Amino acid sequence: VHSHLDESIRPYIDLIDTLRSVGIHKDLALPTIVVIGDQSSGKSSVLEALSGVALPRGSGIVTRCPLELRLKKVPGVKWKAVLTYDKKADGSENLFAAGLKHGKLVSGKVGQSAPKEKKIEFADPSLVEECVAEAQNELAGKGVGICDELITLEIISPDVCDLTLIDLPGIARVPVEGQPEDIGKQIKRLIMKYIKKRETINLVVVPCNIDIATTEALKMAQKVDPEGKRTVAILTKPDLIDKGTEKSVLAIVHNKVIPLRKGYIMVKCRGQQQINDEVPLEEAAQMERDFFQNHDHFRCLLEEGKVTIKCLAIKLTLDLVDHIKNSLPPLQQHIQKQLCSVKRALRDCEAGPPDDLEGAKEFLIETLNGFNEKIKSLLSGEPKNGKS
Ligand code: GDP
Ligand code: NA
Ligand code: MG
Repeated sequence: VHSHLDESIRPYIDLIDTLRSVGIHKDLALPTIVVIGDQSSGKSSVLEALSGVALPRGSGIVTRCPLELRLKKVPGVKWKAVLTYDKKADGSENLFAAGLKHGKLVSGKVGQSAPKEKKIEFADPSLVEECVAEAQNELAGKGVGICDELITLEIISPDVCDLTLIDLPGIARVPVEGQPEDIGKQIKRLIMKYIKKRETINLVVVPCNIDIATTEALKMAQKVDPEGKRTVAILTKPDLIDKGTEKSVLAIVHNKVIPLRKGYIMVKCRGQQQINDEVPLEEAAQMERDFFQNHDHFRCLLEEGKVTIKCLAIKLTLDLVDHIKNSLPPLQQHIQKQLCSVKRALRDCEAGPPDDLEGAKEFLIETLNGFNEKIKSLLSGEPKNGKS
């Protein structure tokens, strides 16, 4: 349907993916779409419908680590997925991890002395749930705990749209057995870490059958983005709406209640019964369309382009491209600055040790001291900026 779009956005998405693949996101925040909302509001369902990939999903806390979904549309290839995450760092790997966390690029690639990344490739979509769950268990422990470590799932397929999205644990109001008292706080802190970055587009997922004004996730998004420049709201579960509230929900979609600059999109995903019945995603998309076409109150939203997953996908892709375009100038500036400081450091090295013995000794001591300082600052977690 939007093949002309694919052509024009491809270079931007490719650029971001290339930058990511060399690890630049550890130095600079790159634009991404982050999905937030209450537990069971439908976050994973929306991601699943967008990606065409069955994700771990259901009631209770299922998403326990941030999951980055990198979707790559490649015509004519067989479906393929690559799951990567950092192994839990211990001992000698700690130093290495600290180095990366503080933005020191170790020659672009992970060195052999510190094998850190776990990488799993597979060609069967039905393995996604299991692989993600396993990675979560390794990182966050079995059970109901959460963890900050990112799991990355790259999916290459002719049937996905070019998007990178991050699924986050849902906001829990009450801890369940085995969860710490402050689980709600922990999750909010994790969500904040992602949504506060100016480079993210925040997708706030809110079910149609709750009072949107009380939505914690929307409040959080508004706090970090008061002008609403990078916040999009997704209304889910329109089929579960309370009878008689259709008009007030319609007013929300029409941006009349809590106005958001980027507005609202309503989607209908598979319910639990349809999941149990293994209704395929394509069929679910058709059912979604039928649902809106036959809906007395929401039919008008089809023409207005404010409903369906497909419409959301197109909107998001355009938003992302806009966002990337706007991020490029500052990104370039930042890289230029770093390049300058590296060049300066290189010049200092090029001078080399003086010829005379005393001078050489002094040079060596200075170099060793400098090196020592750097290691100390890495270990204390406070990198010295500027001269390096
Ligand atoms: P998450 O915790 O926010 O990731 O929520 P999930 O995506 O796991 O969804 C929670 C439950 O809501 C699942 O049982 C879904 O099947 C169901 N669900 C999600 N979207 C819809 C929808 O549009 N309609 C209906 N009826 N159920 C939905
Ligand atoms: Na859930
Ligand atoms: Mg989820």
